[in-house]
Amino acid sequence: MNSPREVFLSVLASLSIPLKTCSEDNACEKTSYVFLRKELPVRLANTMREVNLLPDKLLSQPSVRLVQKWYMQSFVELLDYENRKPEDPHTLNDFLEVLIEIRNRHNDVVPTMAQGVIEYKEKFGFDPFVSSNIQYFLDRFYTNRISFRMLINQHTLLFGNDTNPAHPKHIGSIDPTCNVAEVVKDAYDTAKMLCEKYYLAAPELKIEEFNSKCGDPIQVVYVPSHLFHMLFELFKNSMRATVELHENSAEGLPPVKTRVTLGKEDLSVKISDRGGGVPLRKIDRLFNYMYSTAPTPSLEPGAVPLAGFGYGLPISRLYARYFQGDLKLYSMEGVGTDAVIYLKALSSESFERLPVFNKSAWRHYKTSPEADDWSNPSREPRDASKSIYKANR
Ligand SMILES: Nc1ncnc2c1ncn2[C@@H]1O[C@H](COP(=O)(O)OP(=O)(O)OP(=O)(O)O)[C@@H](O)[C@H]1O
Ligand SMILES: [Mg+2]
Repeated sequence: MNSPREVFLSVLASLSIPLKTCSEDNACEKTSYVFLRKELPVRLANTMREVNLLPDKLLSQPSVRLVQKWYMQSFVELLDYENRKPEDPHTLNDFLEVLIEIRNRHNDVVPTMAQGVIEYKEKFGFDPFVSSNIQYFLDRFYTNRISFRMLINQHTLLFGNDTNPAHPKHIGSIDPTCNVAEVVKDAYDTAKMLCEKYYLAAPELKIEEFNSKCGDPIQVVYVPSHLFHMLFELFKNSMRATVELHENSAEGLPPVKTRVTLGKEDLSVKISDRGGGVPLRKIDRLFNYMYSTAPTPSLEPGAVPLAGFGYGLPISRLYARYFQGDLKLYSMEGVGTDAVIYLKALSSESFERLPVFNKSAWRHYKTSPEADDWSNPSREPRDASKSIYKANR
């Protein structure tokens, strides 16, 4: 089976395609078509192979079956184009329509897959091996989905009627001069509205920029909707922690501070709150799908919860990693949390990070973990009442 071919952000933004090749009749669209008709089915096939390695009891859940059906249908529809020539007058238009249909079909993949995992957990419980496999799988499956949608969106936005009149400078979903502080303010405002709706108050925003190259506002070639998604999730988390800790304090709510910095390699955005933080022992599990300390929100259509599915952090980290960045949480229990988004400062270093299905990936699903090679493997705090030291004292 073919492996996916990662694409550079600059190529997705058509920045590195020489204009000469595009000046001919539909040349760019044809090039994109020829690339996508092969690449999209390859990406679908890679992820479908991994779905098939999930435990049978999970695969038999109705939601997981539904997701599999969507993937299979889209795969078959794309294969139809394997031998259709781009010069054929209908091919490019038909392809555009099929891409839009596929995108719509896959709209609800994340909640549907999540539902399948919940169903499985409720029926069979979770053992650590299955749980770590599902975590490994979902990270790869959702990354694959982010990449798949990115390719589809670029094609439909650039060559269809999907143009975005509010942002004429954008190339598809990419802003070649994305002003980071503006996206920060936008994400903060949206999270603030939600927070005020739930708690009738929200912390203020303080924002600082440090551009090591010059004093100009910090800009980057990036997908603003991805950046917005990450920032919005982090602001929601910081606001919830801040309000819940300081709701009744006489001093009011401490602000959420944001620092945007640009170095030679990294563009970093740090969001710092005084929401009481999280103990070190729990930090890793915050990135687990299925972990949330918020009450389960209602699934009524139109209801937008401030927190509750436990997908905020893990999916945001996938967005950051997708173009070679990362998202990390540094917390000091009792005080607050710093969340840092790292992006590549140079678009020449921003290329897709994609899961590849191969023997190592296969081994993840098939080999059970070996005995722990450190003493005290438990990550839970010791129960002091059972301690031998206490008994001897
Ligand atoms: N800044 C923070 N301060 C304190 N706790 C935090 C912070 N950010 C995250 N957490 C903890 O991490 C958990 C997981 O966060 P995550 O954003 O992934 O899910 P969520 O907020 O519970 O639900 P949602 O999917 O709606 O975002 C939260 O429930 C909360 O307990
Ligand atoms: Mg959240």
